[in-house]
Amino acid sequence: TKVRGKTAFITGAASGIGLATARALGARGARVILADIDGAGARAAADGLRAEGRDALGVELDVTDEASWAKAGDAARDFGAVRILFSNAGVGGGSGPFEQYDTEVWRWNYAVNAHAHLYACRTFLGDMKASGEPSHLVMTSSMVAIVPPPISVAYISSKYATLGIAMALRNELAESSVDISVLMPGMSATRIVETTRNLRPARQEIGKAAATSQAMQGVLAGGMSPDRIAARVVEAIEKGEYWIFTHPEWKAMAELVTQDMLAAFGPSADPAYKGDDIDGLIRAN
Ligand code: NAI
Repeated sequence: TKVRGKTAFITGAASGIGLATARALGARGARVILADIDGAGARAAADGLRAEGRDALGVELDVTDEASWAKAGDAARDFGAVRILFSNAGVGGGSGPFEQYDTEVWRWNYAVNAHAHLYACRTFLGDMKASGEPSHLVMTSSMVAIVPPPISVAYISSKYATLGIAMALRNELAESSVDISVLMPGMSATRIVETTRNLRPARQEIGKAAATSQAMQGVLAGGMSPDRIAARVVEAIEKGEYWIFTHPEWKAMAELVTQDMLAAFGPSADPAYKGDDIDGLIRAN
């Protein structure tokens, strides 16, 4: 999908990967709508882009709130017909034993990282499809959805959900004018750990997670610049690439995970069974 002249809507655009991608898309001649729960941050970032001569709009949006989507959608449509949708806002939280997770921490991860893609698509995807114009949907998953490190179960599993949504939508959109990409970054030096701190879990033991977050912040501070990741996102949109991998140092681990899975395939549990009609399943839809 050619970026120049298109209108792009980016969630989580006040900071990190979203902001860097808004800048990169703007530099390639796209008109950009920066949406974030940090409305002041989104508007300030849009002001900055306009000062550089780009066409930009900042809007406040809580991606977990359908009414907020309706408002942001209206503001977006006044600005332009969205043809690039980057569903990117994300948070990460929860540590310690899974069975002790605060329910709100769990719901928060899923609401922002996973469920919000439905609202994003409900707001823009129908029109993108109906336009018949080359359009592009990008969703931010994470390398942790392929190689899960021993960090938050809530975060990791919500990122698997995002990958799952992208995998399923890839089929659904195959015959449409909408291309799809899934972004699978490793570590990036962004404010994600600070965002996590904005949640104030009620229960004491969850509050103690701040210590873990600080250690994590140190590790993430050494991560890749979000600008490099943004450049790959723009390239993938222009080339129509589905997978966006940015961190090759994870490839050997990804191979191990895949091998572990493939090695577990054995002979059929029922030697008399003729096997699943997979072609039939595909045609049945
Ligand atoms: P960031 O914290 O710098 O930016 C995330 C933005 O999302 C913030 O501006 C925040 O205000 C916004 N946001 C949070 N909750 C929101 C909500 N309910 N509605 C609207 N906006 C909301 O973090 P970063 O790293 O740029 O995160 C972007 C995406 O990249 C996330 O989906 C994250 O999970 C993913 N990611 C980040 C990695 C990293 O190492 N930083 C690695 C892999 C994936």
